[in-house]
Amino acid sequence: MAGIDYLERIPNNVDLAENRRLQRALEEWQPKFLEWWRDMGPDGFQAKDVYLRTAVSVDAQGWAKFGYVKMPEYRWGIFLAEPEPGRQINFGDHKGDPAWQEVPGEYRGVLRRLIVTQGDTEPASVEQQRHLGSTCPSLYDLRNLFQVNVEEGRHLWAMVYLLDAYFGRDGREESEALLQRRSGDPDKPRILGAFNEKTPDWLSYLMFCFFTDRDGKYQLASLAESGFDPLSRTCRFMLTEEAHHMFVGETGIGRIVQRTCELMKEHGTDDVRRHGAIDLATIQKYINFHCSVSLDLFGSEISTNAANFYTMGLKGRFEETKKADDHRLKDATYLVNELVGDAVATREEPALVSLNERLRDDYVADCQRGVTRWNQVLRSHGIDFELSLPHRGFHRAIGVFAEARVSPDGRAISQAEWDARHREWLPTEEDRAFVASLMYGVTAPGKFANWMAPPARGINGQPIDFEYVRLA
Ligand SMILES: [Fe+2]
Ligand SMILES: [Fe+2]
Repeated sequence: MAGIDYLERIPNNVDLAENRRLQRALEEWQPKFLEWWRDMGPDGFQAKDVYLRTAVSVDAQGWAKFGYVKMPEYRWGIFLAEPEPGRQINFGDHKGDPAWQEVPGEYRGVLRRLIVTQGDTEPASVEQQRHLGSTCPSLYDLRNLFQVNVEEGRHLWAMVYLLDAYFGRDGREESEALLQRRSGDPDKPRILGAFNEKTPDWLSYLMFCFFTDRDGKYQLASLAESGFDPLSRTCRFMLTEEAHHMFVGETGIGRIVQRTCELMKEHGTDDVRRHGAIDLATIQKYINFHCSVSLDLFGSEISTNAANFYTMGLKGRFEETKKADDHRLKDATYLVNELVGDAVATREEPALVSLNERLRDDYVADCQRGVTRWNQVLRSHGIDFELSLPHRGFHRAIGVFAEARVSPDGRAISQAEWDARHREWLPTEEDRAFVASLMYGVTAPGKFANWMAPPARGINGQPIDFEYVRLA
């Protein structure tokens, strides 16, 4: 593997020193990135030492170096998974051809759009989360927030590398635009809806990590199958970092559930709000909200765009090469959800146009595994309550369910029933105000907010009361 020169301005394993044109483009972009980071990155902690993981190479020893770093000095770099010798395109019309090392001219525009759409989510989430530091439930959680933030910053670098290295002048313009859009700004919003929502509190943030960032994992996994080899290798390395983001969401919600259970047992009541924690009904409402807005990110059930990306060899299925079929799907079918009158039904559709729905199915199964683990926490406390994912038709804004009203348990309902009951299903202003009332910074090492249990163990073998962020 290519070595990493710590003296280089941009750590990389893409031989940047040999490619002067690219080096110049990235060195010109770097100060603008840092300006964006200072303006839109974590608010108030830029001068603090944070115990962070930095990737200095892609091998087992180098991809996770831990140490104190001030965030603006984080070594954002460009790392691609090692090339697979002789890698081929594994699906679509070009199946069996050697993987592309350069952008195929006919697909240039489509490929650039795919990269820009993915790239836009990375800085967007940093912007959404920038105010959370001051209300952290612990130093441990504060450190995890910043770890996710700097890695989303690195993911932006990863996409900008592809744009600058392979798309010439257009690519450089797109790289600039990625720093100019702003989450939630009506004049220059981020591209995807969920990335313009607010992340007002830590419950929302942890739900975001669990549900919305997991959409990112599935998009990256599909792009990791791409016939465009630099994109595939970039996404494969990003996925190693993404695992930690999933961990933050799943264990974070798990620790909230744990604390709620403890207080329910201690006080013999479901109403733990009185005891300064988040009741299960509220947790369920937040699940319903974040799951439904994240399901929209997968797009329409029937999509010719998705079919084209696949046929062109640009974006595969989740774990494409593990699937035992012809990887062309011209004659295959897939079961897609639909609404018939007031019943939710399934219908067979051509597999190619159903690829969004298929990826959504993989995603839902993955989410369910996390919910099942939360329910084990409930069971271990002898509490007779099950958290669940809402039906995929619930509260949707995109696809066949967008025009319908569907209850969380999957019944098509009237507008009147929706109006009467949606406050039972989605967080209300009162719920959000209550959650907000619990948010204040807990920053003594080893101390945790009352509404959240400590983690099972610390980061990188450190104790739970380690000083993960030096605030002094
Ligand atoms: Fe990311
Ligand atoms: Fe992420």
